[in-house]
Amino acid sequence: NKERTLAIVKPDGLLGNYTDDIKKTIIEYGFSIAEEKLVQLDEDNVRRFYAEHSSKSFFSNLVTYMTSGPVLVMVLEKESAIADWRALMGPTDANKAKATHPHSIRAMCGRDMEKNCVHGSDSPKSAQREISFFFGEVSTDKVTEHD
Ligand code: CMP
Repeated sequence: NKERTLAIVKPDGLLGNYTDDIKKTIIEYGFSIAEEKLVQLDEDNVRRFYAEHSSKSFFSNLVTYMTSGPVLVMVLEKESAIADWRALMGPTDANKAKATHPHSIRAMCGRDMEKNCVHGSDSPKSAQREISFFFGEVSTDKVTEHD
């Protein structure tokens, strides 16, 4: 029974040229990349995508970070894709990832609690919402594709 999740390589991941290594790891771990595109987010995109975090103290930094350059968004597919992608990313805090999950993606390319290189949906409900945010019928109205 295949499941889909949304993965994002954040601006620090693209800027540090980690995309190829991240994709290689994704394939090695048995995911297939069903969709992918490079997009440049604006402030409004980030506000809506991360709506659940909009009242947090780190939110304005998150907006600055996520709009600082293009991001690569992908739909990953496999059995248990949501949990398995989160496990492969490692803990949100990249410092913790380096200490406790040395083989995780955040250990490889993240820096700290904010600049953690990758994102993954946290539940089936978020996966559905996040996939349609970027790949739904009206997605071209919401995000600017980047070449
Ligand atoms: P992500 O898993 O994409 O979900 C929300 C993002 O907000 C998170 O990764 C980090 O990039 C950022 N974030 C979460 N918690 C904090 C925090 N305490 N301080 C700064 N940034 C955070």
